[in-house]
Amino acid sequence: MRVTMLILTCFLMMSCAGKYQQAENQPQDYPVIPKPVAMEMLTGKFILNKNTKVFGDASLKNEGEFLANVLSGASGADIQFYEGNFGNIELKLDASISSVEGYELSVESKNIVVSGNTAKGVFYGVQTLRQLIGKTNSDITIPAVKIKDAPRYVYRGMHLDVARHYFPVPFIKKFIDLIAMHKMNTFHWHLTEDQGWRIEIKSLPKLTSVGASRYGTIVGHHPGTSNDETVHSGFYTQEEVKEIVAYATSKHVTVIPEIELPGHSGAAIAAYPNLSCFPNEPTKIYNDMGSKKGKEMQANGTPKIVQETWGVMDDVFCAGKEETFTFLETVLTEVIPLFPSEYIHIGGDECPKGNWKRCANCQKRMKEEGLADEHELQSYFIQRMEKFLNAKGKKIIGWDEILEGGLAPNATVMSWRGEKGGIVAAKQHHDVIMTPGHSVYFDHYQTKDKKNEPVAIGGLTTVEDVYNYNPSPKELSADEQKYILGAQANVWTEYMATTDYVEYMILPRMSALSEVVWSPQEGRDWNDFSERLLSLKEMYDELGLNYAKHTFER
Ligand code: ACM
Ligand code: ZN
Repeated sequence: MRVTMLILTCFLMMSCAGKYQQAENQPQDYPVIPKPVAMEMLTGKFILNKNTKVFGDASLKNEGEFLANVLSGASGADIQFYEGNFGNIELKLDASISSVEGYELSVESKNIVVSGNTAKGVFYGVQTLRQLIGKTNSDITIPAVKIKDAPRYVYRGMHLDVARHYFPVPFIKKFIDLIAMHKMNTFHWHLTEDQGWRIEIKSLPKLTSVGASRYGTIVGHHPGTSNDETVHSGFYTQEEVKEIVAYATSKHVTVIPEIELPGHSGAAIAAYPNLSCFPNEPTKIYNDMGSKKGKEMQANGTPKIVQETWGVMDDVFCAGKEETFTFLETVLTEVIPLFPSEYIHIGGDECPKGNWKRCANCQKRMKEEGLADEHELQSYFIQRMEKFLNAKGKKIIGWDEILEGGLAPNATVMSWRGEKGGIVAAKQHHDVIMTPGHSVYFDHYQTKDKKNEPVAIGGLTTVEDVYNYNPSPKELSADEQKYILGAQANVWTEYMATTDYVEYMILPRMSALSEVVWSPQEGRDWNDFSERLLSLKEMYDELGLNYAKHTFER
């Protein structure tokens, strides 16, 4: 009797286990980007079909439903997530996994288990599973595997400038999806600029009624050939900001808002001219590239207008007037509750000091505060904002210019003019995020053949250049290396007027960055990465994304 039962059980198991139990898998069946820390290829395949059920604790419903959705899309079967303890794909929390973002994935022919220390880890396991979905002639399958994985850096970011060009809410969500898909965890949202103010501040309504629109934009590369004479507008209401932050949270992405100061503040000055050292001096649209409407406004008593060309502008927030600080504190008091992030980015880059030199208020401030020069005045400005934000429980991030004149005591430095600023800051035991132009400026051209490309700002950063980037500089000791939190790509959108073009500029460079910030440095192998990228390209195709093809054409 017992033997009969055993035979019967074996027979049933074999039929359930399906036809792929003995299937030998090949390395190309595991095209995961970023490359996992440890992966063991196994024999056999799991088949996705109408019997597939995802299950787990109610606390993993968000991740479970996301996975069920992905699997349904891939297989055509109606795959659901069930709270409880039945099914063949299990999501679970496992406190023995040491990294809070780490996960383990076990795929066998009959069941799959994704475990993470937190829901975030489980989510990354799900993203890996998504990339493992393959096809045979007749089935949608996942190759058997054991993976143990965790990220190299805690900060894995993508920046997006929505001020040079505004992008609608659905695209911001798509951008967040891409961040999550690449196991990155931070969206740096550049919301204010000379060319537009893009976040609603209820107690300062002119910031959006005036500051969110410009009368025109230069045509072609700076200095431009003409002005398009077309109004460009857009801003995010606070309700939309909440919606985006909630969406990002569901994808385990932190949103860090950037409110630029003291430079790149032309749109705020157009709304509230007194924030300038010289409220009556007309906004300069260099090279006479201003729109007819803007010139008309300036001729008729409105000297300050939203900037229409690109570059670094002289008109910046006055550091002498108390009014400037009252304004910024009012802005930040509304911004802070919208963002759960521990950080607020306060900009700090590219602030020319010419106006401050000729401003009586700024000079008075310098004398009163015993500041030796205008760099120290900039440092005073940043430190004062840091004190305000720290008191509200937030930390600041600033571009590396915040080193000049003395670093604010608790500031994190975002190193963009190469790695120099980051190295200096780490040596001073300040946290650092690396975003050096040469490796991670995604507004650069991505091929030498610039003639056949849409116009970009300049530079050259290929997918391979991104891939070869190591955010932990040799110049730092092992102890100093600990201050490098991670890296981020910056997407400045002077020349990216459409969402399609943004996608083209970030993909597939973002996939290379994802491996830089997630996978161990020892495993870098461009040829191996290029092979895996072919599969990710198929996913980009399935998702209808517009990506650059250069790296696939060699
Ligand atoms: C920057 O690219 N100006 C930070
Ligand atoms: Zn001033």
